[in-house]
Amino acid sequence: MNFIENISAFQNIIYIVSSILFITGIKMLGKEDTAVKGNFLSALAMFTAVAITLIDIVNPLLVIIGISIGAIIGSLIALKVKMTSIPEMVALFNGFGGLATFFIAWSEFYSIPDNTFQYVLVMITTYIGGVTFSGSIIAYGKLSEKLKIQKTSLITKFLTTIFYASLIYLLYAVFISKIFVPSFDFYTILLILTLLGGIGFVIPIGGGDMPVVISLLNSFSGIAAAFAGLLLLNNVLIVAGSLVGASGLILTIIMAKAMNRSIGNILFVGYASSSSGTKSEETGEVKPISVSDAYLILENSSSVLIIPGYGMAVAQAQHVVRELGELLEANGTEVKYGIHPVAGRMPGHMNVLLAEANVPYDVLVEPDDVNPTMDTVDVAVVIGANDVVNPSATEEPGSPIYGMPIIEVHNARTVFVLKRSMSSGFAGVQNPLFFKENTRMLFGDAKDSIGGLVSEFKD
Ligand code: TAP
Repeated sequence: MNFIENISAFQNIIYIVSSILFITGIKMLGKEDTAVKGNFLSALAMFTAVAITLIDIVNPLLVIIGISIGAIIGSLIALKVKMTSIPEMVALFNGFGGLATFFIAWSEFYSIPDNTFQYVLVMITTYIGGVTFSGSIIAYGKLSEKLKIQKTSLITKFLTTIFYASLIYLLYAVFISKIFVPSFDFYTILLILTLLGGIGFVIPIGGGDMPVVISLLNSFSGIAAAFAGLLLLNNVLIVAGSLVGASGLILTIIMAKAMNRSIGNILFVGYASSSSGTKSEETGEVKPISVSDAYLILENSSSVLIIPGYGMAVAQAQHVVRELGELLEANGTEVKYGIHPVAGRMPGHMNVLLAEANVPYDVLVEPDDVNPTMDTVDVAVVIGANDVVNPSATEEPGSPIYGMPIIEVHNARTVFVLKRSMSSGFAGVQNPLFFKENTRMLFGDAKDSIGGLVSEFKD
């Protein structure tokens, strides 16, 4: 074995070690108590893989400078970002992953050997990487509410058409044009169509479906990386990319299931078409309640279900919520927390916040566990949740969120809804729950309202 072969064998051994660390890390992310360690192991795996790759490249300094700049920018963003903006940040990260593979494929285009397999890999990697990049930028714009564009607008329809055109062009590139020598012009058109196609892919998808789209784009970024690994003949990139691709796809399926939608329906039909604007215009009497009256009812309840939502994250009310839960339990009330899979703005958002506040895991229940016995709950306390408790999803076939499973708090004996105003939630639809006979609105910032209840219990 010569020196070069020795290095390559050594690299591959270290790549196997990194792959094992990746797999163990991802497995550990599945449980709250091992998640931090799992994150660390995965980061260590990435560091090891990158470090060992550097030992036989021509200009490692250039790569180290690039990594350092990226690490500084990434760390600054991660330190600054608010918990409620994590999904936007994930969208950007996916996008940059896609952009990196897009650039790899682009540069490989100029050194493709006369080899059909390599040629096909370049085309596919360019496509998936480019669609992931531009699609993720649009997803970022939608999630951060910086981009508001109608599904039915002319520009949306035009871009969606470009997306289908880009797919046809890719198929042509892969199956037909490889017979000919790929020309610069031909490839340039693919680059442009790909980037526009990514925009056209995401732009018609409704805001409420963004969680599913983000995890799908996450999966795409992994698949693009795996293809780039094949292109560069880099084993660890193939493994890491496949892991991200597969786990992103599993998450996509779980999220779609949580919203009772098929992936095809989310991507190609969307909320808006099923609704065509038949929003519930229910008006009626809203019955506000004061903190002291709410306290009197809670004090006399034997079972309370707390349903946290995005507003709890905004108010950062998780610690006072835990305190209220403990006071209720000390008062002899059975307390459970109803957790909807898409409550908040990222998968597991409520679980993370409640774990941070040391709420025990065994009092968290899912909609399927709690809905059948909802009529035995004395008070359902809805804290900054809206869409995930909207009865239109089960009662109103024309509603934009019809079909999404919800926590059916309207079947509880009494419902307290804690929010600041009558404004709608993420899906932008009105909530008939607020007008139900058994609902009382406790207006105000969730942290202040819960803090008020805690003080009443303590007095
Ligand atoms: P939303 O339906 O978004 O409703 C949140 C409510 O919180 C709002 O109606 C708002 O009303 C209230 N709120 C905001 N700040 C508050 C504060 N400081 N104190 C009290 N209330 C406050 O939330 P949800 O029920 O959790 O549903 C989540 C939605 O987001 C779903 O439509 C889901 O599809 C979507 N989504 C989810 C994810 C993931 S993965 N979880 C990602 C992206 C989007 P006021 O303004 O009147 O206070």
